[in-house]
Amino acid sequence: MIVGSIKENTTLEKRVSLTPETAKNIIGLGLKVCIEKGYALHLGINDNEYKDIGVEIKGSPKEILDSSDLIIKVNCPSEDEIVILKENTILVGMLNPSKNKKKIDLIINKNVKPFSLELLPRITRAQSMDVLSSQSNLAGYRAVVDCVAEFEKAVPMMMTAAGTVPAAKVLVIGAGVAGLQAIATAKRLGAIVSATDVRAASKEQVESLGGKFLTVEQNEDMETAGGYAKETSDEYKRKQAEMMKEALKKNDIVICTALIPGKPAPRILTEELVKLMSAGSIIYDLAAEQGGNSAFSEVGKINLVNGIKIIGVKSLMNSLPLTASSLYAKNLFSFIRNLYSKDKKDFNINLEDEIIEKSLIKKV
Ligand code: NAI
Repeated sequence: MIVGSIKENTTLEKRVSLTPETAKNIIGLGLKVCIEKGYALHLGINDNEYKDIGVEIKGSPKEILDSSDLIIKVNCPSEDEIVILKENTILVGMLNPSKNKKKIDLIINKNVKPFSLELLPRITRAQSMDVLSSQSNLAGYRAVVDCVAEFEKAVPMMMTAAGTVPAAKVLVIGAGVAGLQAIATAKRLGAIVSATDVRAASKEQVESLGGKFLTVEQNEDMETAGGYAKETSDEYKRKQAEMMKEALKKNDIVICTALIPGKPAPRILTEELVKLMSAGSIIYDLAAEQGGNSAFSEVGKINLVNGIKIIGVKSLMNSLPLTASSLYAKNLFSFIRNLYSKDKKDFNINLEDEIIEKSLIKKV
């Protein structure tokens, strides 16, 4: 059985789905691996690093797709790539089925089995494959690094002979995977950090990282059985806006990460709230691509309103593609290891396995 990978469109996506390390691990399972020439050159990884561990290098995407039984990708293939996709193969990636309905239909019509790793169940056994966590964790870290680079003041408190520099204040909205890493990173840099989330359970996690939790009083349980947030009521929104009024006046940097799976990002910071911040402050909207948590946020832009910078994040993983690829490739390897039966020497699409059943896109 052969696992193949073709290049991504590197102007849009810098990550790769196969690193030399994971290629070695896949070969260790008894599988063969092939990649397209110059596969990861843009990351400074040359073909010989793959070749030396037994990966076959082929000249064109078609040669890879023709000879592979399982294709790994970062993003959903383009329509041109789908045309040359071989029938009856398996495709694994972050296929984003809700955004790529037409392409997924074309893939299924070719009898290709598409597995989308964003659909994995959040169960213990699937943790090593959890691409949303691995990538969001990096996003939380990078959000703070970007904010600090844009912020025109120092972050930690400094006592110098020339006087004391106060510590910057960072507010994190949404304390999920990205939010918790943002809190930890901002704390490491010496910021005074607070955070808020609709899920009461996140209070303890925020506090364990040294952050102050800003509670919006409510009676309703805002967490679903799957551990995600519910949509907030008008009453909750009103109370949250009241709490924000005070918090925004005090904070220098706000990192927005609020997300409700499958829904547009909740709009938490209205125009009126944004304008309460001081000139020189920063709002970093990680949810921009999902519609944004903040007014004035636009994907891929930095908007300046009353001296406040509102940063609408785009393709953040392209800012640290080596680490993002390394983690993503490890997630993929864990998925392949679960899918491959060493005894049968074949991929085993066992729909009784929750991991396989949930991640396989049947129809969109
Ligand atoms: P997550 O689901 O782990 O965390 C989201 C948090 O927001 C949850 O704790 C939830 O309870 C909270 N939340 C929901 N509604 C809220 C509200 N109204 N007020 C306060 N909190 C609320 O999500 P994750 O993985 O941390 O992702 C966060 C955001 O970052 C998402 O929008 C995601 O798409 C984005 N992201 C962007 C990346 C990029 O490259 N641009 C990469 C990774 C993540």
